[in-house]
Amino acid sequence: MGIKATNIVWHNTSVKRSDREKLLKQKGILLWLTGLSGSGKSTVATMLEQKLNDAGKLTYLLDGDNVRHGLNSDLGFSKEDRIENIRRIAELSKLFVDAGIITIATFISPFIKERVKVKDLLESDFVEIYVDCPLEICEKRDPKGIYKKARNGQIKDFTGIDSPYEKPINPDIVIHTEENSLEECVDKIMDYLEKR
Ligand code: ADX
Repeated sequence: MGIKATNIVWHNTSVKRSDREKLLKQKGILLWLTGLSGSGKSTVATMLEQKLNDAGKLTYLLDGDNVRHGLNSDLGFSKEDRIENIRRIAELSKLFVDAGIITIATFISPFIKERVKVKDLLESDFVEIYVDCPLEICEKRDPKGIYKKARNGQIKDFTGIDSPYEKPINPDIVIHTEENSLEECVDKIMDYLEKR
Protein backbone atom coordinates (compact mmCIF):
# COMPACT_ATOMS: atom_id res chain seq x y z
CA MET A 1 0.00 0.00 0.00
CA GLY A 2 1.35 3.45 -0.84
CA ILE A 3 1.01 6.59 1.26
CA LYS A 4 -2.44 8.17 1.08
CA ALA A 5 -1.68 11.46 2.78
CA THR A 6 0.05 14.30 0.99
CA ASN A 7 2.08 17.11 2.54
CA ILE A 8 3.82 14.89 5.07
CA VAL A 9 7.53 15.15 5.69
CA TRP A 10 9.67 12.71 7.67
CA HIS A 11 10.73 14.26 10.98
CA ASN A 12 14.20 13.38 12.24
CA THR A 13 14.46 12.85 15.98
CA SER A 14 17.54 13.73 17.99
CA VAL A 15 17.43 10.66 20.25
CA LYS A 16 18.33 7.75 17.99
CA ARG A 17 17.88 4.01 18.14
CA SER A 18 21.55 3.66 19.04
CA ASP A 19 21.03 5.97 22.05
CA ARG A 20 18.16 3.83 23.27
CA GLU A 21 20.10 0.63 22.71
CA LYS A 22 23.02 2.02 24.68
CA LEU A 23 20.67 2.90 27.51
CA LEU A 24 19.11 -0.57 27.48
CA LYS A 25 22.41 -2.40 26.89
CA GLN A 26 20.80 -4.55 24.22
CA LYS A 27 19.90 -4.49 20.54
CA GLY A 28 16.41 -4.35 19.15
CA ILE A 29 15.41 -7.43 17.18
CA LEU A 30 12.25 -9.06 15.86
CA LEU A 31 11.76 -12.75 16.54
CA TRP A 32 8.95 -13.84 14.26
CA LEU A 33 7.31 -17.16 15.14
CA THR A 34 5.20 -18.61 12.35
CA GLY A 35 3.28 -21.87 12.37
CA LEU A 36 -0.12 -23.50 12.56
CA SER A 37 -2.63 -22.75 15.29
CA GLY A 38 -1.78 -25.10 18.15
CA SER A 39 1.83 -25.57 16.98
CA GLY A 40 3.08 -24.05 20.22
CA LYS A 41 4.04 -20.51 19.13
CA SER A 42 2.57 -18.76 22.16
CA THR A 43 3.84 -21.36 24.64
CA VAL A 44 7.39 -21.16 23.28
CA ALA A 45 7.23 -17.35 23.08
CA THR A 46 5.98 -17.05 26.66
CA MET A 47 8.85 -19.12 28.06
CA LEU A 48 11.37 -17.40 25.80
CA GLU A 49 10.20 -13.99 26.97
CA GLN A 50 10.42 -15.09 30.61
CA LYS A 51 14.00 -16.28 30.13
CA LEU A 52 15.00 -13.04 28.45
CA ASN A 53 13.31 -11.03 31.19
CA ASP A 54 15.13 -13.09 33.84
CA ALA A 55 18.36 -12.22 32.02
CA GLY A 56 17.53 -8.51 32.35
CA LYS A 57 16.39 -7.95 28.77
CA LEU A 58 13.54 -5.66 27.77
CA THR A 59 11.07 -7.63 25.66
CA TYR A 60 7.58 -7.31 24.25
CA LEU A 61 5.39 -10.14 23.05
CA LEU A 62 2.92 -9.44 20.26
CA ASP A 63 0.49 -12.34 20.10
CA GLY A 64 -2.07 -13.00 17.36
CA ASP A 65 -5.06 -13.56 19.57
CA ASN A 66 -4.23 -10.55 21.78
CA VAL A 67 -3.58 -8.08 18.98
CA ARG A 68 -6.85 -9.15 17.38
CA HIS A 69 -8.61 -7.96 20.54
CA GLY A 70 -7.32 -4.42 20.11
CA LEU A 71 -5.39 -2.86 17.25
CA ASN A 72 -6.67 -5.43 14.75
CA SER A 73 -10.15 -6.01 16.14
CA ASP A 74 -11.58 -4.85 12.81
CA LEU A 75 -9.96 -7.76 10.95
CA GLY A 76 -11.16 -11.31 10.30
CA PHE A 77 -9.53 -14.27 8.58
CA SER A 78 -10.11 -13.64 4.88
CA LYS A 79 -6.96 -13.50 2.79
CA GLU A 80 -7.13 -9.67 2.61
CA ASP A 81 -7.62 -9.34 6.36
CA ARG A 82 -4.74 -11.66 7.17
CA ILE A 83 -2.53 -9.64 4.82
CA GLU A 84 -3.55 -6.41 6.57
CA ASN A 85 -3.08 -8.07 9.98
CA ILE A 86 0.54 -8.89 9.15
CA ARG A 87 1.19 -5.51 7.53
CA ARG A 88 0.14 -3.67 10.67
CA ILE A 89 2.09 -6.02 12.94
CA ALA A 90 5.16 -5.54 10.77
CA GLU A 91 4.93 -1.76 11.08
CA LEU A 92 4.27 -2.01 14.81
CA SER A 93 7.19 -4.39 15.26
CA LYS A 94 9.45 -2.02 13.39
CA LEU A 95 8.65 0.71 15.92
CA PHE A 96 9.26 -1.66 18.83
CA VAL A 97 12.59 -2.76 17.38
CA ASP A 98 13.50 0.89 16.80
CA ALA A 99 12.73 1.42 20.48
CA GLY A 100 15.48 -1.12 21.19
CA ILE A 101 13.13 -3.84 22.36
CA ILE A 102 13.53 -7.58 21.80
CA THR A 103 10.19 -8.06 20.10
CA ILE A 104 8.59 -11.49 19.83
CA ALA A 105 5.72 -11.85 17.36
CA THR A 106 3.55 -14.96 17.27
CA PHE A 107 1.24 -15.02 14.27
CA ILE A 108 0.20 -17.89 12.05
CA SER A 109 1.25 -15.60 9.17
CA PRO A 110 0.41 -18.31 6.63
CA PHE A 111 1.61 -16.60 3.45
CA ILE A 112 5.25 -16.57 2.30
CA LYS A 113 4.75 -13.33 0.42
CA GLU A 114 3.61 -11.47 3.53
CA ARG A 115 6.47 -12.82 5.66
CA VAL A 116 8.93 -11.72 2.97
CA LYS A 117 7.42 -8.24 3.21
CA VAL A 118 8.07 -8.23 6.97
CA LYS A 119 11.65 -9.29 6.28
CA ASP A 120 12.06 -6.56 3.67
CA LEU A 121 10.77 -3.98 6.13
CA LEU A 122 12.90 -5.09 9.09
CA GLU A 123 15.92 -6.26 7.08
CA SER A 124 18.59 -7.89 9.27
CA ASP A 125 16.50 -7.24 12.41
CA PHE A 126 14.08 -9.96 11.30
CA VAL A 127 14.53 -13.54 12.48
CA GLU A 128 12.13 -16.07 11.05
CA ILE A 129 11.41 -18.95 13.40
CA TYR A 130 9.35 -21.79 12.01
CA VAL A 131 7.40 -23.56 14.74
CA ASP A 132 7.07 -26.87 12.96
CA CYS A 133 4.40 -29.28 14.13
CA PRO A 134 2.30 -31.68 12.03
CA LEU A 135 -1.32 -30.68 11.53
CA GLU A 136 -2.50 -33.98 13.09
CA ILE A 137 -0.70 -33.11 16.32
CA CYS A 138 -2.00 -29.52 16.38
CA GLU A 139 -5.46 -30.88 15.80
CA LYS A 140 -5.07 -33.45 18.56
CA ARG A 141 -3.84 -30.78 20.98
CA ASP A 142 -6.62 -28.38 19.99
CA PRO A 143 -6.22 -26.26 23.16
CA LYS A 144 -9.00 -23.85 22.19
CA GLY A 145 -11.33 -26.44 20.64
CA ILE A 146 -11.21 -24.56 17.35
CA TYR A 147 -10.03 -27.38 15.05
CA LYS A 148 -13.12 -29.26 16.11
CA LYS A 149 -15.26 -26.28 15.16
CA ALA A 150 -13.39 -25.92 11.84
CA ARG A 151 -13.91 -29.60 11.04
CA ASN A 152 -17.63 -29.46 11.62
CA GLY A 153 -17.96 -26.24 9.63
CA GLN A 154 -18.61 -23.82 12.48
CA ILE A 155 -15.45 -21.86 11.55
CA LYS A 156 -14.62 -21.09 7.93
CA ASP A 157 -11.23 -20.29 6.36
CA PHE A 158 -9.36 -22.11 9.09
CA THR A 159 -5.61 -22.43 8.53
CA GLY A 160 -4.62 -26.01 7.73
CA ILE A 161 -8.22 -27.06 7.13
CA ASP A 162 -9.78 -24.88 4.44
CA SER A 163 -7.20 -22.10 4.28
CA PRO A 164 -3.55 -22.71 3.31
CA TYR A 165 -0.36 -22.56 5.36
CA GLU A 166 2.79 -21.98 3.32
CA LYS A 167 5.84 -23.37 5.12
CA PRO A 168 8.92 -21.14 5.31
CA ILE A 169 11.49 -22.03 2.65
CA ASN A 170 14.64 -20.89 4.42
CA PRO A 171 13.83 -19.95 8.03
CA ASP A 172 16.60 -18.79 10.37
CA ILE A 173 15.53 -21.28 13.03
CA VAL A 174 13.23 -24.33 12.97
CA ILE A 175 11.85 -25.80 16.17
CA HIS A 176 9.97 -29.08 16.38
CA THR A 177 7.52 -28.89 19.24
CA GLU A 178 6.31 -32.50 18.87
CA GLU A 179 9.83 -33.98 19.04
CA ASN A 180 11.60 -31.68 21.46
CA SER A 181 10.69 -30.43 24.90
CA LEU A 182 9.57 -26.86 25.44
CA GLU A 183 12.86 -26.18 27.20
CA GLU A 184 14.87 -27.50 24.23
CA CYS A 185 12.90 -25.38 21.76
CA VAL A 186 13.42 -22.23 23.82
CA ASP A 187 17.12 -22.99 24.32
CA LYS A 188 17.59 -23.31 20.56
CA ILE A 189 16.35 -19.73 20.16
CA MET A 190 18.39 -18.50 23.15
CA ASP A 191 21.53 -20.10 21.64
CA TYR A 192 20.89 -18.32 18.37
CA LEU A 193 20.52 -14.98 20.17
CA GLU A 194 23.68 -15.47 22.18
CA LYS A 195 25.64 -16.23 19.00
CA ARG A 196 24.40 -13.01 17.44
S1 ADX B 1 -3.01 -14.81 10.86
O1 ADX B 1 -3.31 -15.86 9.88
O2 ADX B 1 -3.66 -13.55 10.51
O3 ADX B 1 -1.56 -14.66 11.07
P1 ADX B 1 -3.34 -14.79 13.71
O4 ADX B 1 -2.08 -15.40 14.20
O5 ADX B 1 -3.47 -13.31 13.77
O6 ADX B 1 -3.65 -15.33 12.22
O7 ADX B 1 -4.57 -15.39 14.53
C1 ADX B 1 -4.69 -16.76 14.70
C2 ADX B 1 -5.52 -17.13 15.92
O8 ADX B 1 -6.87 -16.75 15.72
C3 ADX B 1 -5.52 -18.63 16.12
O9 ADX B 1 -4.61 -19.00 17.11
C4 ADX B 1 -6.93 -18.94 16.54
O10 ADX B 1 -7.01 -18.96 17.95
C5 ADX B 1 -7.76 -17.81 16.06
N1 ADX B 1 -8.60 -18.08 14.87
C6 ADX B 1 -9.92 -17.85 14.79
N2 ADX B 1 -10.39 -18.13 13.55
C7 ADX B 1 -9.34 -18.56 12.82
C8 ADX B 1 -9.19 -19.01 11.46
N3 ADX B 1 -10.21 -19.04 10.61
N4 ADX B 1 -7.95 -19.39 11.05
C9 ADX B 1 -6.91 -19.36 11.90
N5 ADX B 1 -6.99 -18.96 13.18
C10 ADX B 1 -8.19 -18.54 13.66
